[in-house]
Amino acid sequence: MVVLVTGGAGYIGSHTVVELLKSGYDVVVLDNLSNSSAESLLRVEKITGRKLEFVHADIRERRKLDELFRQYDFSAVIHFAGLKAVGESVAEPLRYYDNNVGGTITLCQAMEAAGVFRLVFSSSATVYGEPEQMPILENFTVGGVTNPYGRSKWIIEQVLEDLSCADPRWSIALLRYFNPVGAHESGMIGEDPDGVPNNLLPYITQVAVGRLQQLSVFGDDYSTKDGTGVRDYIHVCDLASGHVKALDFLENHNGAQVWNLGTGHGYSVLDMVHAFEEVSGCKVDYKIEPRRTGDIGECWSDPSKARRELGWQAQRSLHTMMADAWRWQQQNPHGYEHS
Ligand code: NAD
Ligand code: UFG
Repeated sequence: MVVLVTGGAGYIGSHTVVELLKSGYDVVVLDNLSNSSAESLLRVEKITGRKLEFVHADIRERRKLDELFRQYDFSAVIHFAGLKAVGESVAEPLRYYDNNVGGTITLCQAMEAAGVFRLVFSSSATVYGEPEQMPILENFTVGGVTNPYGRSKWIIEQVLEDLSCADPRWSIALLRYFNPVGAHESGMIGEDPDGVPNNLLPYITQVAVGRLQQLSVFGDDYSTKDGTGVRDYIHVCDLASGHVKALDFLENHNGAQVWNLGTGHGYSVLDMVHAFEEVSGCKVDYKIEPRRTGDIGECWSDPSKARRELGWQAQRSLHTMMADAWRWQQQNPHGYEHS
């Protein structure tokens, strides 16, 4: 079975391609490399000992998509392609809606024209906004999102739900990721943020490796155990295996369905700093700063729906997340381009 993976050269996509190839799927990656390097895919081939096809294109290029759908008999599409920087989305909303929402619509139009109706979509816990209760279940209210990036995810979820209502041939998995961290155990692929990282763990590892001076901890006055923000960090390889499970599920189920992909555990910023220090043996210099605009105090999942329905559960511990993130950072101190 051949699977089209949009955005497959990126962080979560490349780890998912490893899982797909290991599970026997053939893979075609379509990526415009706007936030990634094709080097990741060469490394995926090295890790798995298997070949994949790479198409350098944009999901908004309808003609290229049609060509691709004629060339391959895809059984499904896993759709990672999207822009994901929250701050940038506030400054450039049109670019975000065009790329994320417009791109997804073009992709679905091409799928429909080609008779391919199986889709796994990368959504985000951000669609829950600021829930009143923890842990977060899939049936919680969604939509209280405060930035165009998050809103683009919420809009896409609704578009895909409408599509599945209009045409029962669609089978769609909406996967709401919590906080993906870590890297493949080989240290060959991992997260390679452009410029100064927005996310916590890449920031920590870049401080440890000497690329950045000091971590800013955004707020210590939340009502959490130590006052710093709490999140549900999930190993990217666990997240990747959730996609393969969702694909299997879609073979026998139509409609659009939602799953949380998280561990069900919340860790604070200081928990993360201390866990990293323990695993790496490096001290992470940090200072407490004011809260970051738009941040919420805590966010963690109830992942039991995915366990029940997909037979999926995160396996890797916080220790493993730290060890793998650190191995990737040490082996590739400047990411893919300069390692
Ligand atoms: P990433 O930036 O590493 O990967 C996204 C990939 O999509 C990149 O390779 C980029 O070049 C490509 N891309 C972007 N726009 C494209 C377009 N128009 N056409 C073709 N390719 C395009 O990001 P990631 O962390 O791997 O995230 C993958 C998906 O998961 C994204 O949709 C993101 O919004 C979503 N997500 C990520 C997180 C997270 O914390 N990393 C959390 C929740 C959801
Ligand atoms: N944090 C710091 N210092 C930093 C970076 C982060 O203290 O330099 C803190 C944040 O305040 C937060 C926690 O670390 O408490 C995690 O922050 P991240 O930026 O790593 O992750 P977020 O939970 O803020 O955001 C992530 C994705 C978003 C997505 C959101 C919800 O990056 O794209 O999860 O799914 F919208």
